[in-house]
Amino acid sequence: MTLDIKIKNLNVSFLTNEGTVQTVDDISLKLEMGKVLGLIGETGSGKSVLGLSILNLLPSNACVSGEIFYKNINLLSLNKKLIRNFRGKDIAFIPQNPGTALNPIMKVGNQIGEGVKISKEIKESKVLNLLQRFLLSPPGKIKNSYPFELSGGMKQRVLASIGIFNNPNWIIADEPTKGLDAIVRQQVYETLHKITSNTDCGMLLITHDLILSKNLCNTIAVMYASDIIEIGKTSEVLENSKHPYTKGLILSQPHKGLKPMYGFAPSLINPPKGCKFYTRCPNKMDICSLKKPDFYKTKDGSKVRCFLFDKSK
Ligand SMILES: Nc1ncnc2c1ncn2[C@@H]1O[C@H](COP(=O)(O)OP(=O)(O)OP(=O)(O)O)[C@@H](O)[C@H]1O
Ligand SMILES: [Mg+2]
Repeated sequence: MTLDIKIKNLNVSFLTNEGTVQTVDDISLKLEMGKVLGLIGETGSGKSVLGLSILNLLPSNACVSGEIFYKNINLLSLNKKLIRNFRGKDIAFIPQNPGTALNPIMKVGNQIGEGVKISKEIKESKVLNLLQRFLLSPPGKIKNSYPFELSGGMKQRVLASIGIFNNPNWIIADEPTKGLDAIVRQQVYETLHKITSNTDCGMLLITHDLILSKNLCNTIAVMYASDIIEIGKTSEVLENSKHPYTKGLILSQPHKGLKPMYGFAPSLINPPKGCKFYTRCPNKMDICSLKKPDFYKTKDGSKVRCFLFDKSK
């Protein structure tokens, strides 16, 4: 049985007072067992919503359709109780907001491995080992701390420890290096790298940190306004980007000259009917405002949602 996660025609929208916000627009994606897939893109493009939908962690105003297969089961068909059987052991989620994800009145050591049925001694040594691995020292003191006593970066690493406690088959990590200084970021990178390279554990890495994604990911998918617009091998996407949006995103990075991209992403309530990048695109053609482009395959194996790569034209 394959441990791949196959996302098919996933749509997620939210009902709000302003209208329906379409945050994931018919996305199909295969997460291959043992591989690291990076999900990058501007703020608000739908990365976290996509990650949260895999484990049914979305808030109640979310309307979800499509299928997400894992171990031949459609995770989206499971109720809240059944999906809990997959959380932690099969698929772990390291959330983006350390401030709200931890229980404020419980010592962090008790939150790592909470509910896991193993002896107290084994649990204790595993907790100390994980704190050490994520450079939370001295581990004995950190274990007995409450979340308010830790910095944002430390809480982020506590969440990572909670996530990997059960040696999951999959980790969905949402911004695991956010708010960390360069040295600690490097350590978190090394820990994640160790986990994914020494085990069969696969990962969906959601990040703005393109250097982290370059070092960790086998494949990168780029999200723009609820669509995946480019997907391919990490080196291709980051060094030989095809989609005009990906090119702009790379050039806007500090290490590439910090050139800001023209314009803003469209509203996700009544988005434009053609290519959602049309108004900002330096290469736009008439057809782009009329029709949403399909995915076109390039000769180096990337897939790009852009008419520039439509060979029939
Ligand atoms: N509960 C909600 N109700 C209404 N809209 C929501 C809700 N949660 C998310 N959204 C909207 O969905 C869109 C995508 O949000 P998401 O958090 O997935 O973005 P993101 O790509 O993870 O951004 P960031 O990089 O800032 O984390 C945003 O426009 C956001 O406002
Ligand atoms: Mg997010």
